Amino acid sequence: MNVHRQAAIVTGGASGLGQATARALATRGARVGILDIDEESARRVATEIDGVAAACDVADPSSHEAAFMAVREKIGPTRILITCAGIAPGARLVGRDGTASPLERVTRAIRVNLVGTINSCRLAAADMSALEPMEDNERGCIVTTASVAAFEGQIGQLDYAASKGGVVAMTIPLARELASAGIRVNCIAPGLMDTPMMAGLSEPAKRFLLETMVFPTRLGSPDEFAALAVHIAENTFMNGAVIRFDGALRMAPE
Ligand SMILES: NC(=O)c1ccc[n+]([C@@H]2O[C@H](COP(=O)([O-])OP(=O)(O)OC[C@H]3O[C@@H](n4cnc5c(N)ncnc54)[C@H](O)[C@@H]3O)[C@@H](O)[C@H]2O)c1
Repeated sequence: MNVHRQAAIVTGGASGLGQATARALATRGARVGILDIDEESARRVATEIDGVAAACDVADPSSHEAAFMAVREKIGPTRILITCAGIAPGARLVGRDGTASPLERVTRAIRVNLVGTINSCRLAAADMSALEPMEDNERGCIVTTASVAAFEGQIGQLDYAASKGGVVAMTIPLARELASAGIRVNCIAPGLMDTPMMAGLSEPAKRFLLETMVFPTRLGSPDEFAALAVHIAENTFMNGAVIRFDGALRMAPE
């Protein structure tokens, strides 16, 4: 589709991959709505790109729906959804002292990354279904963000890997369900990307991870991710795909 003047919601658009994607969509003339728990940064980015923003916790259904509706009121019904809101808290099932981790600790990533993504898709798909079809009978496009941890989760990534595995697995059933409405669903599974999420790692951990890179031997940039997300929106034949975006990285067990 031509994204020019289309309404695009980007969750997690206040930072990192989502922010770069919101900027790239705005550059191509889309009307961008940012949903993010970090209200201040979301509003700053929205102002810079002539978009709109709403504070939103994707793991809280009422906050999520209220923010979605507030943004929708300003930019119109959603044609494009890019889900980038996510956390990588890290959790082991059993602590080093042998005690079971608190359940909330090992399920938080699932509530934010998986249930949050499902809810974003649920709200946006209903919107898209009611829109006028465009060329090829297309009504909308959803791009979700998983991670290579969905395939090779490391020790201590049980929660994150489970959440991203769910995001990968929902791609095909959702693409099949929404096909009759002309809505495409694709998923990007990034490797190591240069965002504030990665900045949380220690220097030795970062060095070790970079040594496992194949080519190129560097972190991916948010702009490279954004270019792929925009291409998926623009390329109508892209549907039902899970795209590893990782410079051929295969994560080691730890
Ligand atoms: N950076 C990487 O190496 C990498 C690799 C693989 C996958 N990913 C995934 O890419 C996505 C974007 O990550 P990033 O690297 O840009 O991180 P980031 O921390 O820069 O951005 C994540 C954004 O999500 C927002 N967010 C967090 N919890 C939220 C919630 N409950 N409700 C609404 N917004 C919330 C944050 O405020 C932030 O703006 C995430 O889903 C992450 O898991 C990142």
